[in-house]
Amino acid sequence: MTQSTRPDAGRAALASFVTNRLGRASTRPAPSQGEAKSDVPSSAQDFEKLAGYRELKLQRSAADLIGVANPFFRVHEIRAGATTRMEGKTCTNFSSYDYLGLNGHPAVSGAARKAIDAFGTSASASRIVAGERPGHLKLEKALAAHYGTEACVVMVSGHATNVTAIGAILESADVIFHDALIHNSVVTGAQLSGAQRRSFAHNDVASLEKLLEATRHEHRRALIVIEGLYSMDGDAPDLAAFVELKRRYDCWLMVDDAHGLGVLGRTGAGLHEHCGVAPSDVDIWMGTLSKTLSACGGYICGPSVLVEYLKCTAGGFVYSVGLSPPLASAADAALTVMLAEPERVERLRRNGNLFLAIAKKNGLNVGTSLGLAVIPVIVGDSLKAVTLSNRLYARGINVQPIIHPAVPERASRLRFFITSEHTTDQIKETVAAITEELAALETGSTLIEQLMARRGS
Ligand SMILES: Cc1ncc(COP(=O)(O)O)c(C=O)c1O
Repeated sequence: MTQSTRPDAGRAALASFVTNRLGRASTRPAPSQGEAKSDVPSSAQDFEKLAGYRELKLQRSAADLIGVANPFFRVHEIRAGATTRMEGKTCTNFSSYDYLGLNGHPAVSGAARKAIDAFGTSASASRIVAGERPGHLKLEKALAAHYGTEACVVMVSGHATNVTAIGAILESADVIFHDALIHNSVVTGAQLSGAQRRSFAHNDVASLEKLLEATRHEHRRALIVIEGLYSMDGDAPDLAAFVELKRRYDCWLMVDDAHGLGVLGRTGAGLHEHCGVAPSDVDIWMGTLSKTLSACGGYICGPSVLVEYLKCTAGGFVYSVGLSPPLASAADAALTVMLAEPERVERLRRNGNLFLAIAKKNGLNVGTSLGLAVIPVIVGDSLKAVTLSNRLYARGINVQPIIHPAVPERASRLRFFITSEHTTDQIKETVAAITEELAALETGSTLIEQLMARRGS
């Protein structure tokens, strides 16, 4: 299917019409220096005045104006796996990170229940204050063994793990080089650290090399951060090439394998298995417990000195509660099942490959996805992505749109999380439905043009 530009132009024009019209109405000119005192009354303290909130309202108003329902924050009425139920309706679900179908697995739920019975639901305080639970140590040992590292530390959130670890490792004399599509938590950690932040083009080793060549000597320590499987695009970096660069330019290399664990490599071991690189070639392995391991939390695996340092200095560990015992035990049990049942990884690969192959055959824009756990269908602007998501939902398919600012406006998309538990029929029916609805959207755009005409634009 070729993507028509005419409807896009119509939508973009409508969006900018709404934005300009409403934006003008709601945006007051910034006070000049002289009048600042009198014109920054208590209203500046209103939460509604936050710039981001105004933008949000603007987007919602634009959507309301053209009758597009809000696709976010719908409630799941059952455990969401390959299938879920929302608003009383059974849906095929592509919005869960549960790549190997381990959320609700009897061994995983059983381990969580046992931990609750033994230790309750909470670790009650920071581990440095309250002490350890056996589940923390068992999980850390298992994760360290998985990556062949000396040690591991687990924390209560994947996002906080990146923020606090990077914030603790780097200082203002240092530099962080990261992929342009790196996760927000890495950027936030870099900002916290005060280090210089330099981003290189996505998965582009030559772009990083140029940066290193030009700037590495200006800084004391350097950290390169890449992801395993990129969460918005579903592609992966050439790990061996990054290892070579980090050695040549004397940097640490950190891999955020949040979406790689359970997905990449024959057994789902992660990016190193996918690329045939020894895990010991990477200085810091980071990951989350919330995806394949179907719990909640994050981890850093690396040298024992690093882990000891983080356990005593990283704010997100020292000043935050320890991982709750049932979550630690659930993640540990999920890792055990993942390692014992590589057929789950194989099923996931088959499902992802099938989705990708049919989508490509139908002319859908799946970007650079490898066809594993994350497959975007890139449609253009935000409005089109939201409308397509709503149309699929009406047909019993739950998939979330990813819109600006998470991705550039012109790269708005639907992001499909594939799992080992989807059936062939679910995948075939879904790709057929996307293809039909997208085609209908492209030819049916006169609706939007009519709306524009009705608004007199
Ligand atoms: C690459 C990456 N890193 C870190 C995180 C944060 O993990 P969590 O959601 O478990 O806090 C995410 C979340 O999706 C992610 O995609």
